[in-house]
This record gives sequence, structure tokens and C-alpha cells, in this order.
Amino acid sequence: MTASQRPTVYIETYGCQMNVSDTELMLGKLTASGYEAVAQPDGADVILINTCAIREHAEQRVMGRIGEMKSRMSRGTVLGVTGCMAQRLGAELLDRAKHVSLVIGPDGYRDLPSLIESAREGVRAAATEFDLEEHYEDFTARRFDGVKAWIPVQRGCDYRCTYCIVPTTRGPERSRKLAEVVRETEAVVASGISEIVLLGQTVNSYFDGAHDFADLLRAVGSVEGVRRLRFTSPHPNDFSDRVIRAIAETTTVCEHVHLPMQSGSTRTLKRMLRRYTREGYLECVDRLRSAVPDLSLTTDIIVGFPGETEADFSETLSMVEAVGFDDAYTFKFSPRDGTPATRFPASDSVPDEIASERLARLIATVRARTRERNLELLGQRREVLVEKPARRGGLLQSKTRDFKVVMIPGDASLIGRYLNVELTGTTGSTFLGQVVHQRTPLPLAV
Ligand code: 5AD
Ligand code: SF4
Repeated sequence: MTASQRPTVYIETYGCQMNVSDTELMLGKLTASGYEAVAQPDGADVILINTCAIREHAEQRVMGRIGEMKSRMSRGTVLGVTGCMAQRLGAELLDRAKHVSLVIGPDGYRDLPSLIESAREGVRAAATEFDLEEHYEDFTARRFDGVKAWIPVQRGCDYRCTYCIVPTTRGPERSRKLAEVVRETEAVVASGISEIVLLGQTVNSYFDGAHDFADLLRAVGSVEGVRRLRFTSPHPNDFSDRVIRAIAETTTVCEHVHLPMQSGSTRTLKRMLRRYTREGYLECVDRLRSAVPDLSLTTDIIVGFPGETEADFSETLSMVEAVGFDDAYTFKFSPRDGTPATRFPASDSVPDEIASERLARLIATVRARTRERNLELLGQRREVLVEKPARRGGLLQSKTRDFKVVMIPGDASLIGRYLNVELTGTTGSTFLGQVVHQRTPLPLAV
């Protein structure tokens, strides 16, 4: 860096949308403090790795990446680790990787500029205090996506699902004020974005002291210029009648809910401390579906949780059939230090071969169900929002309101536009679509 140039910062992001959103906030803060954001680590003055701790595998990848960064750093480069793994390991990370000079948890990003300054002078630090007031209200997120905007509405989590590290890494639940969320929505819309995704660990438990999630959906959903409103991820127990009514009555709210199920066995759900039964989950699905016909549903499922028997697992398979999910993210249980699930007796643990075999069967069942549902949709018309160039075939990737991915022909000028398409083909998971040109009405004869 020469004296006249601005220092550069590169941030690499792992994990969930909340982390993507945090990266946008960090970049906002740093660019406002004089840094220039760059797309590659090589030669950057500051390299930050924003990490995830949800499964062992996620952490291993990050450790590998931290190691690799050594060869990408020049003299004076500051390497920092942020996010959930930083919070979980704290100062231990400074011992484990000597080329890391900063470790900052999810509530510590306000001090990034000063911590970086000190790190340049050789001061290594770990900042992992929770701050229950922190929502970074005065930061202006620097967004990567020009088509949809992630807006965090809640930080932390007060549930204590026994497998989950998140309450440890992100602290207690707290909600932003509704007026602040609306203010950010208005700013986002003014920048040309019309799809909003509200983020929270259990987003529908949102409560800012005066307003619940129903109020929030109605308020954000009616901001002028918002055309699509989504939210992720809800907890089944927080779908009050008020919230479901708000979903049904707010026309901008899309016909899709990602509803983490985790298991179809009441016995396993109990050991996971999910606080609902198989029947309770089904009832939630029924209530949502009667309020929003043609609602698309996706979910998260864990296999191999301690004590899961073949009978428990087959209940998970039968739930996939019974609910008819449009898609599911499936995971093998990964024990996380400090979570209650690690305290089950060792004899409860499911051998890896069995967990892998269950995962394969679950994936096959999910895929078959998704394929069946998607084949039924062929020939139908949908409104899509064009998101980005597809990875293959010179096509564009677009999304329906009900969260189906549709590949369509066209050039990059269509990105950000809403089009009507006919679903003409499916790979089983994604669709191929043809743009349907709306007929312009003929002028009336005088
Ligand atoms: N092991 C495996 N999967 C997990 N998830 C959360 N914690 C674990 C764990 N310890 C999954 C859950 C959650 C999703 C984000 O990750 O399904 O909904
Ligand atoms: Fe997101 Fe959870 Fe990973 Fe943290 S641990 S980045 S909250 S998925």
C-alpha cells in the first residue's frame, strides 16, 4: 500500500445467510472507514474469514483455509477470523494459528476499524463479548446482491435445541425495532431492490417490545416498491394465528416457507428439545397450507442423532412422504463441543456407516418426492425474478415466488426483471422455462 492508496480488505464468508448479512455489514463499516473492498485475498491489506461453526466439517474447511491464507499474505497483512467459529474458539484460535491476529465474534464488528489499526501495530486480540443491544443500526450494509436484500431482524437464539451451537455462538435472542427494519427496507427499495428476505435464527419469534412478527410482515410487506417478501428460518412453535393471517393477507409475502423439521420421530424430537411432536409439526403444516393454498415447503433434517433407531429414522422418511416437501436440506448429525447432545451416553451414538446409509436413503426419498412434485408443475406459468447468470449453458437463473429455480434463455440485461414464464422442462430439481410474452391489448377501434 502506498500512502495515497486506500487500504484494501477482502472478506470470505462461510455458513448461513446471517453470516452473509454480517459480511455486508462489516464491508459497509470498513468501506465507510476508508477501506476499499477487493474480490481476492492476494495482496489485500486485511483478510477476514467470516466463519461458521454449525458442523465439524464447516470448521475443518475454515481451518484449512486459514492455513492456506499464510501463503497469500504479504508483510503487514492483517488476517482476522470473525463469526461463529471465532466466537466459539476465541483466544484459542490465536494460539492455534500464529498468523491470525484478530478473532472477533458476531457482536464485535463495531470495533473492527480500531482492532485492525492495533493489529497493524502488532497487537493481537480476541473480542468475543456479547452485546445485547447490538444491531449495527448505524452501519450501512454494502450488499453484493443487486436483486434481493437480506435484512436481519433478530440476532441470537433463545431455543436450546440440544444439537445446536448457535445459542453459544450468537448469544441470546434480541429483535431490532420495527421502525428500523422498515427504514432499512425503504433504503433498499430506493436502491432498486424489490425482493426482501427477513433474517433471524427463529425469525417468527420476532418481538421488539411492542410489535410481533405479524406486525413486521405487514409493515415491511406494504413498503412501497417491495414486490416479494420472504423470511428465514421460522420455528414451528412460533406460527401464531396472527402470524399465519399476516402471511396470508400480505400479498407481497411469497408462497414459500422453509420450516425446519429436523426429525419425524417424536422420540427424537424430544431428545433434540425441539418442543413439538410429529403431530404438532403436521398440524403446523396444515394450518399454513389452509391459509396459503399451493404453499411450497422446504425443510432441514438431521439423521444419526444420538439414540436414533431404525424405527425413528423410518418415521422421518414417512414424514417426508406425508408432508411432500418441495425440497430438503439434509445433514448427518455432527457433535458440537459444549452442546447438550454431547452428554448422551456414548452407547447412544449412531455409527458413522449407519448415519451415512440413512442420509443416502433420506436424500433418495427427498429427491423422488421433489421430482414428482416438479413434474406435476410442468406446463404451468409462473412469474419469475431473474437473479443471475446460470452456471451452465449460457442461461439465466430465476426464481418463482414459490421458490422454484427456473433457467431461462436471455442476456444479462434481464437480471433484476420480473418475467412470466412457462415451465417447460425439469431436471427433477430445477426447471427450464420459456418466457411468455404478454400480449399487448389491441387498440380499440374508434
Ligand atoms: N449437526 C448436524 N446438523 C446440524 N444443524 C444444526 N446443528 C447441527 C449439528 N450439530 C442443521 C439443522 C439446522 C441447519 C441450519 O443445520 O438442520 O436447521
Ligand atoms: Fe450461521 Fe449457525 Fe453457521 Fe453461525 S453456526 S454461521 S448462525 S449456520
